[in-house]
Amino acid sequence: MTSASHSASHSAGGTQAPTRLRLIRPDDWHLHLRDGVLLQAVLPATAARFARAIVMPNLQPPVTTVAMAAAYRERILAALPPASTFQPLMTLYLTEATPVTEIQAAVQSGFVHGVKFYPAGATTNSENGVRDLRRVYPVLAAMEKHGLPLLLHGEVTDPEVDIFDREAVFIESVLRPLLADFPGLKVVLEHITTAEAVDFVRAHGERLGATITVHHLLHNRNALFRGGIRPHHYCLPVLKRERHRQALVAAATSGAPEFFLGTDSAPHLRGQKESACGCAGIYSAPAAIELYAEVFAAAGALEQLEAFASRNGPRFYGLPENSDHIALELRPWTMPEFLSIGGDELVPLRAGESVAWSLVPDEG
Ligand code: DOR
Ligand code: ZN
Repeated sequence: MTSASHSASHSAGGTQAPTRLRLIRPDDWHLHLRDGVLLQAVLPATAARFARAIVMPNLQPPVTTVAMAAAYRERILAALPPASTFQPLMTLYLTEATPVTEIQAAVQSGFVHGVKFYPAGATTNSENGVRDLRRVYPVLAAMEKHGLPLLLHGEVTDPEVDIFDREAVFIESVLRPLLADFPGLKVVLEHITTAEAVDFVRAHGERLGATITVHHLLHNRNALFRGGIRPHHYCLPVLKRERHRQALVAAATSGAPEFFLGTDSAPHLRGQKESACGCAGIYSAPAAIELYAEVFAAAGALEQLEAFASRNGPRFYGLPENSDHIALELRPWTMPEFLSIGGDELVPLRAGESVAWSLVPDEG
């Protein structure tokens, strides 16, 4: 249970909201760590907050084999701050050439926890993804047999389909038949953005989970155009209408076990974002759990944050909950305008603005 200490005074007629929270240490079930200097720069923020993260494989070249995942895992471990016990949970990037034997090797490895499906062309480094789903059916059958989850970027890529409808169309045209063809396959619909996705996941129970990002909980599509075009709010799936944001907040704060925390923190250097053809991705890691706390507080549902952030994910993946805790305090701080990386800059979510909650030492 979340323990939340209440502020000293209780006003007549109502209990004040908690100003301090203690949570089982959360995990991030969808994260981009990149590689090289960017990995070095972004990993400490995640490792300070989360015990584990499902690490996305969309590097260049993509992480398609267990051997590549093992090498990437070693690079992540080598980049950790000295005393950190953070554990990267690795994934494989599914291609039409992935052999069934790679699934057996993944299961035996003990460190590969899922296989990521990118529809070819859907997003950053997805050109090696899947064009014809039928071609990966033998691989999906092996995953179903071994209980290895399939992690979906749930958008169709047909340029004729309106970008705001691509998730809803994916659900009906790809996901529904896929679940019917593989009734035992565990699936995560990643970074859901619509009321349609919320309803669909709710209707499918145990074998279908969904991650929800903090940026989709905080913002609707107006954030892309507030006073001018805002490339740092551009991500995929793109931000949606307010009614969808509200459906996501209701799902995340409901405590329902199929919804869990996945930041999709996806760093791109400033020049790649502020460009005539800017990259999709929002870098939220430096205040991830703090911003989720903001969302849950605004919804009056702080008591549900621990289920969403720390319990539902391990349950879906068949892993133990973490044994240590983190603490948050309602004390505002200002997110830096940018982080310096070599000669370059990385602009985080909330850059130059106030974050309401602070991560503080856990005093038990
Ligand atoms: O916004 C996004 N950024 N969405 C994705 O699906 C990929 C990610 C990235 O890797 O930059
Ligand atoms: Zn992602």
